[in-house]
Amino acid sequence: MAAQALSVLNLRKEFRRNKAGRALTGLFGRRRKAPGTVDSNGNGSGGPDGGRNGSNGSVIVAVDDVSFDIEKGEIFGLLGPNGAGKTTTIKMISTLLRPTSGKILVEGTDPEQEPARVLARIGTVLSGERCIYWKLTGRENLEYFGALYGLRGPGLRRKIDGLLDRFQLTGRADETVEKYSTGMKRRIVLARALLHDPSLLILDEPTAGLDPQGARNLRDLILELKAEGRTILLTTHYMEEADILSDRIAVIDHGLVIAMDTPAALKRRLGDTRVVELEVREWVEGTGRSLQEAGLVSGYAARRLPEREEYQVTLHLPAGVGAAATIAAYLERGNSVQNLAVKEPTLEDVFIRLTGKSLRD
Ligand SMILES: Nc1ncnc2c1ncn2[C@@H]1O[C@H](COP(=O)(O)OP(=O)(O)OP(=O)(O)O)[C@@H](O)[C@H]1O
Ligand SMILES: [Mg+2]
Repeated sequence: MAAQALSVLNLRKEFRRNKAGRALTGLFGRRRKAPGTVDSNGNGSGGPDGGRNGSNGSVIVAVDDVSFDIEKGEIFGLLGPNGAGKTTTIKMISTLLRPTSGKILVEGTDPEQEPARVLARIGTVLSGERCIYWKLTGRENLEYFGALYGLRGPGLRRKIDGLLDRFQLTGRADETVEKYSTGMKRRIVLARALLHDPSLLILDEPTAGLDPQGARNLRDLILELKAEGRTILLTTHYMEEADILSDRIAVIDHGLVIAMDTPAALKRRLGDTRVVELEVREWVEGTGRSLQEAGLVSGYAARRLPEREEYQVTLHLPAGVGAAATIAAYLERGNSVQNLAVKEPTLEDVFIRLTGKSLRD
């Protein structure tokens, strides 16, 4: 039987902090810096003891117990809120962090045993990290990283021209990357990750910070890369993105996989639930619990909208309960309503049902 594109079994990562609160993380094989890593973001530089001497400080469990298998050619989404452990998980798969325990197999190869073999098969794009030289041009970056992958000569030049063309960067290829727009920077980083033709692409929050048009373009590109037969692991906290792109999703919270399925099957878990979304000035403490006890809602979440002094309240209506009855009971408890909409359940609602909180808290 052909090996899975990626298998992750009981993966765990603890970060130890010393007394001063500094992370003592230890890079995964400090000798073997991944070709795509220009610069660490400062938290992965590792202590002199490689993380073994954390006994005087606290332990942060970033990834508690994560297991999943990804089939070849699949887009697999890791969906979870800030701090869920998504980036830590993909850094371990990409050989940038050493797992505390657990097992990873990339096409049957253990990154801890054979990192070079794994790095030849994966292309990783981390978010918010400096993985491209801003003072070099787009083309120079691709030449440099291509050489790190052992590519050279006319073959590399053809590859670079093809990637620049594909990502609509040909006209700006000889300008320094610092002059690129956010969308162009994202595209050159993706081009860099594809130089060695990896079969598994790992994308951390690929559309974060892009405008809606830029995000749509990037999503189209991701679907094209899948159509070429590549396997894609992406992280996101945008549920719509996970829904549109992913064949399957692992919902992750506090370092644990709390649900894993296709987007449609995850939503089917809510059965006949309908969702009422309210914008309100005040959220009277205890309302959600009291409506739930009265059988008028089956799940709820409230989150403060930071840009406005308002709350967005989501109420899940059980089958057979009308929106009017729930809203009337809601108003009786001293609440008011600015705006109201009845919607179909989304993955956000699945997350609310599983955790009792909003993904975007
Ligand atoms: N190098 C580190 N040292 C100490 N703690 C860390 C380190 N990296 C991550 N953490 C902690 O581990 C937890 C998981 O972080 P991680 O970056 O994996 O989350 P995430 O799901 O990617 O979140 P986000 O959506 O914000 O990117 C957080 O509590 C984070 O503060
Ligand atoms: Mg992250």
